[in-house]
Amino acid sequence: MTTFKLNTGASIPALGFGTWQDADAQENAVLEALKAGYRHIDTARVYGTEPAVGRAIKKSGIPRDQIFLTTKIWNNKHHPDDVPQALQDSLNDLGLEYVDLLLMHWPVAFKRGDELFPKTQSGGPDVVDTDYLDTYRAMEKLIATGKVKAIGVSNFSKAEMERVLANATVPPAVHQLEGHPWLQQRGFADWHKKNGIHVTHYSPFGNQNEIYSREGTIGRLIEDPVLVEIGKKYGKSAAQVALAWGVSEGHSVLPKSKTPERIRQNLEGDFKLDQEDVKKIRGIDRKLRFNDSSEDFGYDLFKDLDGKK
Ligand SMILES: NC(=O)c1ccc[n+]([C@@H]2O[C@H](COP(=O)([O-])OP(=O)(O)OC[C@H]3O[C@@H](n4cnc5c(N)ncnc54)[C@H](OP(=O)(O)O)[C@@H]3O)[C@@H](O)[C@H]2O)c1
Repeated sequence: MTTFKLNTGASIPALGFGTWQDADAQENAVLEALKAGYRHIDTARVYGTEPAVGRAIKKSGIPRDQIFLTTKIWNNKHHPDDVPQALQDSLNDLGLEYVDLLLMHWPVAFKRGDELFPKTQSGGPDVVDTDYLDTYRAMEKLIATGKVKAIGVSNFSKAEMERVLANATVPPAVHQLEGHPWLQQRGFADWHKKNGIHVTHYSPFGNQNEIYSREGTIGRLIEDPVLVEIGKKYGKSAAQVALAWGVSEGHSVLPKSKTPERIRQNLEGDFKLDQEDVKKIRGIDRKLRFNDSSEDFGYDLFKDLDGKK
């Protein structure tokens, strides 16, 4: 299995397993994934899947140090005083002593408390002005506790990334962002490479996630004729080609599935594409961003990035 090196010196498997949605199915799905050979699992406080992930890891019997586990701090726990307990709550639910990677899920902070989506009196998102830099600094301090091996961010704009990097004592090891052949963000990817920050793609199948059912008739990324055609050459599906493209760019990819057959098939998305095929895929970048919560979160996300509407 392909692995990449983080700026901490640790290895991260190219292929990770996503666990957003279908919380009730996740214990079986993660167990299936671990049995099939995945060694990189992605969860988050807000997914409500940490307990299921923890149970599956335990049931699998796979030694802890052979699994790369990521979780994320949710927007209601950005206050620096809340960060250590937020991590501890995740560890308790996971039943683990440490996580390999702790990410700040979004740059936006919500009102402190246990409500995941606090609302103002008028019904809008209750956004507060905790600076993500202060949250990040609190995350940096967690490394000395041994409960976190690496830290990083998710869903940051370029300006936000530059600000974090300019002020960080510990540079982010990973930026997790939306990435697939229809939203390649290659300029931004190059910036990460130059700065030693590993990129992980979420939603690697683009609009296959049902939540992203966008208006119009743009079709499905995993039926894109270019991906289908390339797949024929290798005896692979378009979905597998989409994953292989992310890996060929030097990124990790996080396919999610609750379906045993697909869980196994997606693992076969870790294969080498010829350079001519990588080039062909570079030609289908439609700059389509499917996950933009700016309105729901009351914060202008991805301001300077591709696919911003
Ligand atoms: N940091 C963030 O803000 C953020 C945002 C989004 C996602 N993520 C992470 O990234 C992971 C993946 O992203 P995602 O869940 O949005 O989407 P995804 O993995 O791109 O797509 C998942 C969808 O594709 C289906 N699917 C899986 N394999 C397939 C295959 N081989 N052929 C056809 N359909 C297939 C799944 O169905 P079934 O499950 O029914 O098989 C599911 O409906 C998440 O689970 C989460 O861990 C992070």
